[in-house]
Amino acid sequence: MLIKETDPIENDEITDRAHYLRRREFIGAATLTGPSLLWGSRLTAAAALLGGCRGEDTLSAFGAGEDTQAASGGGENAGARKAPSSREMLTGVVPGPPELGSDEAPTSYADATRYNNFYEFGTDKEDPARYAGDFRTRPWSVAIEGEVAKPGSVPLESLLAPHTLEERVYRLRCVEAWSMVIPWVGIPLGKVLERFEPTTKARYVVFETLYDPQQMPGQRRRTLEWPYREGLRMDEAMHPLAILAVGMYGEVLPNQNGAPLRLVVPWKYGFKSIKSIVRIRLTNEEPATTWNQSAPGEYGFYANVNPAVSHPRWSQKRERRIGTLRKRPTLPFNGYAEQVAGLYAGMDLRRKY
Ligand code: MTE
Repeated sequence: MLIKETDPIENDEITDRAHYLRRREFIGAATLTGPSLLWGSRLTAAAALLGGCRGEDTLSAFGAGEDTQAASGGGENAGARKAPSSREMLTGVVPGPPELGSDEAPTSYADATRYNNFYEFGTDKEDPARYAGDFRTRPWSVAIEGEVAKPGSVPLESLLAPHTLEERVYRLRCVEAWSMVIPWVGIPLGKVLERFEPTTKARYVVFETLYDPQQMPGQRRRTLEWPYREGLRMDEAMHPLAILAVGMYGEVLPNQNGAPLRLVVPWKYGFKSIKSIVRIRLTNEEPATTWNQSAPGEYGFYANVNPAVSHPRWSQKRERRIGTLRKRPTLPFNGYAEQVAGLYAGMDLRRKY
């Protein structure tokens, strides 16, 4: 990664934290009374988007009723309307399983949305917040292809429809040795993949970000091989910790954080958590991935958080939690070893994968 030391921006932590905590009280109330009492019926994820809207408005949030051609490839979203610039609350979100979450204090919303890596919008930490504002995320479709019995191009709202949105508070550890705690809102990746019926040949999953240099100025330069690609082994993808996120802090994902749909794999370095996904392909062979292709000596395919294996240019033993002063020890698998270490039984974890 091109490391540039940029301090996180002074934040309006107090306002944002208070806002977020009020929302958590609301989620807590939903758990006590049961979501069905609060919302009348079990809301599907698509219907839960956009707080306060009627159902049909809610579905139109991601483009239903409009031309929902696949967003994949050279700017096919052109002409679509912009995502609204105002922040949109999500409703119908239920807490994820407690054993999969963290009770650590979330990073301030301001830091999480202004200190980003999204090279499609530039390589400085503030570039994504500065340049992604006009990025059009609606309508949006995702192509599911390769080793699946039911391939297709699916509008985002249909992809989400059968699922309940869950809040998952996860640590995010960047390979650059900084970390955050983010309350994501999303759906389990494995449950989504199951719907497309992976064949017996499916051993890996590859994800691809939109390629649209008109909208993504960073793609006009060969900083990386575009489009950004990431991959997981099938058993990693099916693990309940892996989610497809559509929101954070109870709200629709900001563009700079990977709207409208990003991967979150909390036990791996942050670069695996690919943003603005337009394509998911199941394959038989281990796929080429962007950072591994760009610097094979520095970034492996697995990229599990591992304090025992240094990056060639810096140690991974400690990390800077954004918004706090003191460095803290980095934990194996980013603290999720109990849940995921079994996936790597027999692999030599001292090697750089
Ligand atoms: N996805 C795309 N398409 N492009 C990127 O540059 N950066 C990755 C990952 N996903 C990146 C991406 C890296 S290096 C990190 S650490 C995380 O996004 C950062 O996520 P955040 O900005 O939401 O904190």
